[in-house]
Amino acid sequence: MAAKIIAKEVRKIYDTPQGEVIALQHFDLEVEEGEFVCIVGPSGCGKSTFLRILAGLEDQTAGQVTIIPGKEPGKPLNNVVFQEYAIFPWKTVIDNVAFGLEMHGMPKQKRLQIARRWLERVGLGRFAQYYPHQISGGMKQRVSIARALANDPEVLLMDEPLGALDAQTRAVLQEELLRIWEETRKTVVYITHSIEEAVLLGDRVFLMTAHPGVNKATFDVDIPRPRTLATQSSREFRQLTLAIWELLKDEVMRAMEAQR
Ligand SMILES: Nc1ncnc2c1ncn2[C@@H]1O[C@H](COP(=O)(O)OP(=O)(O)OP(=O)(O)O)[C@@H](O)[C@H]1O
Ligand SMILES: [Mg+2]
Repeated sequence: MAAKIIAKEVRKIYDTPQGEVIALQHFDLEVEEGEFVCIVGPSGCGKSTFLRILAGLEDQTAGQVTIIPGKEPGKPLNNVVFQEYAIFPWKTVIDNVAFGLEMHGMPKQKRLQIARRWLERVGLGRFAQYYPHQISGGMKQRVSIARALANDPEVLLMDEPLGALDAQTRAVLQEELLRIWEETRKTVVYITHSIEEAVLLGDRVFLMTAHPGVNKATFDVDIPRPRTLATQSSREFRQLTLAIWELLKDEVMRAMEAQR
């Protein structure tokens, strides 16, 4: 397998009026083409910072971050799905999904056709002409996911995309993500606070230490695919989530103590 993302010795320092904040310290991550990697770690350990650096929305202070382009020319390198759905309230659902394609100059008919296909895959086919205020939070998040996928980026970056949703909507979208990912096999870096979600979705789970974040451990998720929500009741699933929690617990305690 070829490496798709290589991050080496990434360091990020924010300058604030209160002084320097070291958000990331010697952070390393290598992701293979077609791999689904999840990152978990205590609040404030630098997960979003790392994702923003990967997305080019922020510069690292030191270290290297590379996304290796594939053979298809003209593909966007990455696309991000955030926890708070970043969709335009004045555009219809379908125009939101087609937005990135429009920015790339794709003719209207073609981009609407692609957008419609993705809307159908995330179960929103009937809502193409709705405006964001007319749909639920879970549906808005589907719009964000459909938009990111419609752009067909080299890698998909997701920062707690289901974090703001209720448990049931979240479960439904987890299954949808599993299904879509198993069809597309896109390279994904996925941040979540939920160990269960990380183990359910990921090929590998990266655990970060408390602030400032460095790598603490990596877990291979050798649970066969296709996976479904029922996978969560298997013994290997429970063993792995427990093993990750044992290590994460220490970091969460450290993060909480640092805030006192
Ligand atoms: N723009 C910024 N300016 C200054 N400090 C920042 C900025 N963004 C993040 N930080 C600090 O950097 C550290 C890492 O923040 P980051 O948002 O990356 O953490 P996180 O792991 O995503 O946390 P959470 O799980 O709560 O989302 C924190 O201490 C945070 O306060
Ligand atoms: Mg974050």
